[in-house]
Amino acid sequence: MSGGPGYSPSDGGTAAVQLGPELSVVVPTFNEYGNVVELVQGLRECLAGTRWEVIFVDDNSPDGTAARVRELAATDHRVRCVQRIGRRGLSSACIEGMLASSAPYLAVMDADLQHDERLLPRMLDTLKASDADIVVGSRYAPGGDIGEWDAARARMSRVATRLSRILVPEDLTDPMSGFFMLRRPVFESAVHDLSAIGFKIMADLFASSPRPLRFVELPYSFRLRRAGESKLDSVTAWDYGMLLLDKLVGHLVPVRFIAFSIVGGLGVAVHFAVLTTVFRLLGLSFLQGQATATVTTMVFNFTVNNALTYRDTRLKGRKWLRGLASFMLACSIGGLMNLGVAKLLFGQGFPWFLAAIAGIVVGAVWNYAVTMLLTWGRSST
Ligand code: GDD
Ligand code: MN
Repeated sequence: MSGGPGYSPSDGGTAAVQLGPELSVVVPTFNEYGNVVELVQGLRECLAGTRWEVIFVDDNSPDGTAARVRELAATDHRVRCVQRIGRRGLSSACIEGMLASSAPYLAVMDADLQHDERLLPRMLDTLKASDADIVVGSRYAPGGDIGEWDAARARMSRVATRLSRILVPEDLTDPMSGFFMLRRPVFESAVHDLSAIGFKIMADLFASSPRPLRFVELPYSFRLRRAGESKLDSVTAWDYGMLLLDKLVGHLVPVRFIAFSIVGGLGVAVHFAVLTTVFRLLGLSFLQGQATATVTTMVFNFTVNNALTYRDTRLKGRKWLRGLASFMLACSIGGLMNLGVAKLLFGQGFPWFLAAIAGIVVGAVWNYAVTMLLTWGRSST
């Protein structure tokens, strides 16, 4: 095992105080048990001669990734593990990993060996030798490539790249990259404004920085994932949409409220579908139809909000049932408030549609605020 300067695996803690790392490599993980050993070995080889550390940020992977990382850490102090419980999300994991570091240079890369770690020394040299704020590993710069991707994935990446122009400079060839290195002050100046939604932490950094970032791109070949499978799914597209929305209108209205309202709108469609079926097609009474539709819609809204709006803290198992109960309770009160406000305004001579809209808005804000606290246990957006 090769080590950096001052490294001795057998000093038993009696060695002189050592300098902290110059470079922290932050690696988000979810079910990467089969990849972490090889990744650390790769880092040891390519970063020999640098004071480095690797910080794995693991979202309590069921396959035991965190325990595997701790095994590595037991014989190499440069390996660290941040284990998050009840949380999910690539971007937020990267942010917390960077916050756990004190190094002047921060890198982010995936655990699955798709990002070529041998680029790291060149990224570091580039930052040291230039005034660049960030060095980006690019699959699309001349000399890079995306490896063996299926057509659907390549198409998705192209669409996402086009949309990303809202967030990042025109001439960045790989704005979707999850492989980059930056100076710590650059991270610190952006960290309070990061959206932390979804997968695109680098695009988020570019968009949140108080001034345009000076960047350099270095080409590399995107390799095939070694073990395990990709976590990218259809909900990634939704998360990406939420990130774009947050950057566009997040300063005016919380993006979770927008998501909550979109789900509420879908809920209206569900309500009418169930009502039509029970009342018109099955021939039961209107009240029976309305009651069935109301309960179904609440279950629908809770399920979809849990999967999308609160994806990062989604509830499972018994917590899911308890969440559903609190959601239905909160929304019942919201429904009564909606009726109360609408009735009051209508009684005072407001046009019926304005009275209705006011009732809906009051009910929606109540439902959003109360379920955020009560159901998903969040005190802020
Ligand atoms: N902590 C944590 N929490 N890590 C996660 C989560 C999560 O919820 N979801 C995924 N990860 C980790 C994976 O374990 C992996 O190390 C890394 O994030 C990337 O996930 P993949 O599932 O391998 O994603 P991908 O290969 O489809 O896409 C990646 O590469 C692209 C090209 O660089 C991502 O980094 C994209 O953002 C990037 O564009
Ligand atoms: Mn991957």
